[in-house]
Amino acid sequence: MKAIVQDHYGSINDLRFAEVPRPKPADDAVLIKVRAASLHPDVWHVVTGRPAVLRLMGAGVARPKHQVPGTDVAGVVAAVGRAVLRFQPGDEVLAETVRGVQWRNGGAFAEFATAPEDGVALKPTSVTFEEAAAVPTAGLIALNNLPLRRVPRGSRVLVNGAAGGVGAFAVQLAKVYGAEVTAVDHPRKLDLVRSLGADRTLDYTRDDFTRGGEQWDLIFDVPGNHSFREIRRALNPHGGYVLIGHDAFGAAGHSWLGSIPRMLGLMARSAVTPALRGGSLAPPDKPRLLSTLTQLMDTGQLRVVLDRTFPLAQTPAALRYLTSGRAVGRVVIVVD
Ligand SMILES: NC(=O)c1ccc[n+]([C@@H]2O[C@H](COP(=O)([O-])OP(=O)(O)OC[C@H]3O[C@@H](n4cnc5c(N)ncnc54)[C@H](OP(=O)(O)O)[C@@H]3O)[C@@H](O)[C@H]2O)c1
Repeated sequence: MKAIVQDHYGSINDLRFAEVPRPKPADDAVLIKVRAASLHPDVWHVVTGRPAVLRLMGAGVARPKHQVPGTDVAGVVAAVGRAVLRFQPGDEVLAETVRGVQWRNGGAFAEFATAPEDGVALKPTSVTFEEAAAVPTAGLIALNNLPLRRVPRGSRVLVNGAAGGVGAFAVQLAKVYGAEVTAVDHPRKLDLVRSLGADRTLDYTRDDFTRGGEQWDLIFDVPGNHSFREIRRALNPHGGYVLIGHDAFGAAGHSWLGSIPRMLGLMARSAVTPALRGGSLAPPDKPRLLSTLTQLMDTGQLRVVLDRTFPLAQTPAALRYLTSGRAVGRVVIVVD
């Protein structure tokens, strides 16, 4: 089959479009004929091998253990492993191809990919393969970190980085829960977040939400560009803070450890700071989360805005476009 191949960590420009053997599904996995695969910042991290710690977390120490990048696909089930119960050949599905939460190549940028049954869900017929492929990783991060219990009806939620992959889902989930949502992002992207239901928008190039004197019940923060001391000013006394973390394609964050030291610091501090509690350290229950996401997609409560699609052979150009920050909406690879 045709696939994008990564021989070593480094530059996007070194990715090759090549012929490789078709993968075989494990007993608990499905083989998917890929119709679309999406890009997100973690794909860039594994291609470049930055932060370096990801190489010790399963991606491969000296070179990538799995050569085909990408983790999110939508397509048609071509075969199933012996232990698979919920899917059969011909099913239209979306899937996260890596097990649990792993920072490694997942084989998505190819004509065929395998995914563990736990990471697969039936694609609603009302959405396209391109839209469906944009959901798994970003949708799982958003829903896992923004469960209903955190957002009582009528609460005030601020989403920082609201137009990105994760933020766009967080905005829509908060609206589904009945929150009043303030969305913060670049001015080019504020129409997008309004179209997703945000009640108010703030332009991060002009407005610093931590300095306006306003307070929110929950701050869902993707870029993490403020210290917790600054964030606290914008939290009401019982408010909560969720940091997702984004190192701006290597421009922020530690080159060896990325955002991990900051995450660990906040986790330790949560013992004495209730605002930081509520996150789950347990692995995400993917079947349950994916089922919620696909139901919300089917009812039109969760939408994907696409910016551009690229053919499989042009995946390096698509990754360069993603890292340019120019995309307004998701960047998706289409596989013939
Ligand atoms: N915590 C977890 O469970 C977990 C798990 C896996 C992955 N992750 C991380 O989650 C992140 C996923 O991000 P994503 O897909 O949403 O990225 P994305 O699509 O790049 O979105 C980030 C958004 O934040 C905006 N932004 C940048 N600087 C900002 C600022 N100062 N103020 C407000 N907004 C700003 C960006 O706009 P511009 O670019 O136009 O400035 C962009 O719209 C990745 O970095 C990944 O490593 C977290």
